[in-house]
Amino acid sequence: MYTLGEFIIENRDKFLYSKEALLRLFSSIKLAAKSINKEVNKAGLTEEIMGSSGMTNIQGETQQKLDNFAHRAFIESFKSRNVVCGIASEESKDFIIIGEKENENNNLSKYIVLIDPLDGSSNIDVNIPIGTIFSVYIRKTPTRMELTIEDFLQRGNKQILAGYIIYGSSTILVYSTGNGVHGFTLDPSLGTFYLSHPDLHFPKKIEKIYSINEGNYARFSDGIRNFIRYCQEKKENRPYTARYIGSLVGDFHRNMIQGGIYIYPETIHFPCGKLRLLYECNPIAFLTEQAGGKASDGKKRILDIKPRNLHQRTPFICGPIGMVSKLEEFMND
Ligand code: AHG
Ligand code: MN
Ligand code: MN
Repeated sequence: MYTLGEFIIENRDKFLYSKEALLRLFSSIKLAAKSINKEVNKAGLTEEIMGSSGMTNIQGETQQKLDNFAHRAFIESFKSRNVVCGIASEESKDFIIIGEKENENNNLSKYIVLIDPLDGSSNIDVNIPIGTIFSVYIRKTPTRMELTIEDFLQRGNKQILAGYIIYGSSTILVYSTGNGVHGFTLDPSLGTFYLSHPDLHFPKKIEKIYSINEGNYARFSDGIRNFIRYCQEKKENRPYTARYIGSLVGDFHRNMIQGGIYIYPETIHFPCGKLRLLYECNPIAFLTEQAGGKASDGKKRILDIKPRNLHQRTPFICGPIGMVSKLEEFMND
């Protein structure tokens, strides 16, 4: 059984950039993931993990204690290995420069990370899977120059690495460098990630699940409502089954393995959608395409959207090509 490190060293994923850099990136990601995993497994036993931190983030959302813990775990882990020069996180208004001293652009690394350190925060206190979503780019400005916002506002099609960690019935790290999607399960007794899900794909010709927060039905457009009715119709391979846990990572992971569509459209409350383009939608869209699916905002390919700001939101649809195209037909009718 391959460990994640062996998989990369033997170049099983045919990564075009530096293998050494990829190993160092993963050494940071694995370390932070393992410490979050450890905390998640203690949730309920200590006061430090569960509940609200009493603070709000830039988007006005209440930060959970674990949101902050996960944010710090990733920042520290990337800092200590000096493998990236800048990070943008859901939990920080501005991007963070990783230099020898804070705010110093003396880091020779050319890699930029965008991260949702803890996805599905509303599920922390109720033992439902949560996740981390990450995305890596190469900076646009030359090294040693000051990092600018343009280094972070790159189209999703420029990602060189994207992935997530799901802290579920087991902890699994799933990633793609543009050569398929591979999943590695953490053996907690050894602290090692082993290849468990090589070459993940949406199952061919299986359309089974639709995932949407149907509580927002009254706030959806006619196109979305008509698609939901279509999913519920008794015809051909329908009705589809409805599954929605409210953790994008968990909903996507299940849908990719079992065959389903995930939808977070615009609503009256979230006129531009709820999910964030840079650190939620782009990495999941990259994995979706690598797994043979399609990711769209209803009209355009997610990966082609030119970002305007770090915390920008977008309507988000991802899943098997046939299901996503069908929904687009309803939306653009
Ligand atoms: P986060 O916890 O990082 O803020 O993300 C929550 C997101 C996403 O994970 C999930 O799919 C969605 O919010 C659920 O939203 P609703 O509760 O509105 O359905
Ligand atoms: Mn999230
Ligand atoms: Mn989050």
